[in-house]
Amino acid sequence: MTHEPFLEAIFLKRSSVPSFDVYPYSIPAIKHLEQLTFHPWVTFFIGENGTGKSTLLEAIARVEGFNAEGGSRNFHFASRKEWPTNDLAWALGVRRGPSRLKGSDGYFFRAESFFNVASEVDRLADEPGSGNLLRYYGGLSLHAQSHGESFLSLIVHRFAGNGLYLMDEPEAALSPQRQLSFLAAMHDLVRRGGQLIIATHSPILLGYPQATIYEFTEQGIQPIEYEETQNYRITKAFLNRRQQMLKELLDEDDS
Ligand SMILES: Nc1ncnc2c1ncn2[C@@H]1O[C@H](COP(=O)(O)OP(=O)(O)O)[C@@H](O)[C@H]1O
Ligand SMILES: [Mg+2]
Repeated sequence: MTHEPFLEAIFLKRSSVPSFDVYPYSIPAIKHLEQLTFHPWVTFFIGENGTGKSTLLEAIARVEGFNAEGGSRNFHFASRKEWPTNDLAWALGVRRGPSRLKGSDGYFFRAESFFNVASEVDRLADEPGSGNLLRYYGGLSLHAQSHGESFLSLIVHRFAGNGLYLMDEPEAALSPQRQLSFLAAMHDLVRRGGQLIIATHSPILLGYPQATIYEFTEQGIQPIEYEETQNYRITKAFLNRRQQMLKELLDEDDS
């Protein structure tokens, strides 16, 4: 396993920002963004809904040449010329690892648009000369597998390693048991030279040991330890004191 990342850091080119009063620059996490350094193996984005995790992940994906809706670099490459100034990618700078300029592989996975990606894979597989494209996806159309199965299929069969993998809430379709399988698959991907950046709410995925966790808040983006995250603390408190918490949450007002 190498310690050199594909993506070392990102930074906001503040002079390229047209206005901090409009989306996406008005989101606190973006407004306060100076520089964000990535772990060579795994970096997590966590935080409340609406704090800008997906916005930033999508912008990183675009700068790295992935399709904004998800997929590999072969899925409709978006050219920089087309970016409007209100696209965060416009003002985002990247610093890549010196000897790993661009990986040979890579993928942007978004749970919310996985259906479209599965359709695109089917379309490409039907094209003449595509060979046996579906072998990269476990030999079956992703539409013919359950959501969780197809996603695990993707990471096990299609993700080759030696590249940057961006994932937005990959746990969405996974049972707790499959989230454990996903942890093992993540580790395997890291061993094959992958660098992972993952937005997640899952306290299971967040438990991956060799990682940096960044929390998105109203104050900006800060590193945080696993045991300090709400994901860990709230889940642990609930499991340890379920009856008491339910009573506090659900009891009718007695007055
Ligand atoms: N196209 C858009 N125009 C204006 N605001 C948007 C747009 N897309 C997302 N937002 C807002 O930006 C904020 C961050 O959204 P998002 O990045 O999806 O958050 P997260 O992934 O952390 O839940 C939210 O308040 C959301 O409502
Ligand atoms: Mg999101």
